[in-house]
Amino acid sequence: MELRSVICGVGSHLPERVLTNAELSRKVDTSDEWIVARTGIRQRHIAADGELTSDLAIQAAVKALASAKCAAADIDLIVLATATPDLTFPASAARVQAALGVTKGAAFDVQAVCSGFIFALATADNFLARGQATRALVIGAETFSRLLDWGDRSTCVLFGDGAGAIVLEGQTQAEAGARGVLSTFIRTDGKLHDLLYVDGGPSQTQSVGKLRMVGNAVFRHAVEHISGAMLEACARAGIDISEVDWFVPHQANQRILDGVARKLGIDPEKVISTVALHGNTSAASVPLALDVAIRDGRAKQGDLVLMEALGGGLTWGAALVRL
Ligand code: UT7
Repeated sequence: MELRSVICGVGSHLPERVLTNAELSRKVDTSDEWIVARTGIRQRHIAADGELTSDLAIQAAVKALASAKCAAADIDLIVLATATPDLTFPASAARVQAALGVTKGAAFDVQAVCSGFIFALATADNFLARGQATRALVIGAETFSRLLDWGDRSTCVLFGDGAGAIVLEGQTQAEAGARGVLSTFIRTDGKLHDLLYVDGGPSQTQSVGKLRMVGNAVFRHAVEHISGAMLEACARAGIDISEVDWFVPHQANQRILDGVARKLGIDPEKVISTVALHGNTSAASVPLALDVAIRDGRAKQGDLVLMEALGGGLTWGAALVRL
């Protein structure tokens, strides 16, 4: 029996503390004008001391479960996308599982940095489509503020903390109708691993390290690979990109969102942008933006949504979903 994964709930969570560009420009040699003109970012949220990636993930998951009217007992898979786990191991997903009171199935982390949510969604979709799980929590959660070199103005102004989650349910074609994940596409090009990385880790340095990025080189790859992934995801589902109702991109830089829209002839009104208020929250940015678009009434059940992301690895991907 063919099964399809349907999104039946979405939730998100941001830490309380907001860090504005003005505040940042008092700490590092930058300005609100530069940050807004080059990135579109106006503020970002920063986790409090002791507030962990798993804490953000749990809050987002609780809201996603409530919106799906689903109990923790009904979940039998948790896939958490994060590059900022609480600890080197076990997976932060294990703590999330215990805190939610989920007792069935597996819980594990997926690490594809800013593309993490797309990779996690593709992973969970495969489990559900094969009937190896029935209801999954797919979460993107990050505390990138912990990885930043606050003396490096070229990176510290870009990132923020947050989490987003969806409940994904395996349904028969008859139950799902036209809804569900129609296609996913994920790619890695490891030759480009040194364009965006953290210079620490248990094996190489026995330390956590700081984020390093060759920003303009990543930028050049972003528009090309993201556009390609979006077209590929549409082609795999037999959908023309003009049929898509909402584009939910990874929120790295407004100029990337605009560049992709221009290249593919997309109406900018259809592109959900949260970059001004959230900054780049890595794996959390796509589900955070999806939640915003659903909560403010733009994205509705039955709408075609195309999500995409690119991040360290380099990794990139896209997922086409009918809500
Ligand atoms: O989410 C994962 C994927 N990541 C991305 O997609 C990020 C992709 N990259 C970007 O978004 C952009 O490359 C950045 C926003 C990171 C940088 O923008 P850019 O237009 O590529 O600037 P740049 O790195 O070429 O730097 C231009 C100038 C430099 O000064 P000089 O050498 O021209 O004098 C930088 O030193 O801007 C300077 N600069 C800054 N000035 C003020 C860099 N950061 C800052 C800053 N404030 N925060």
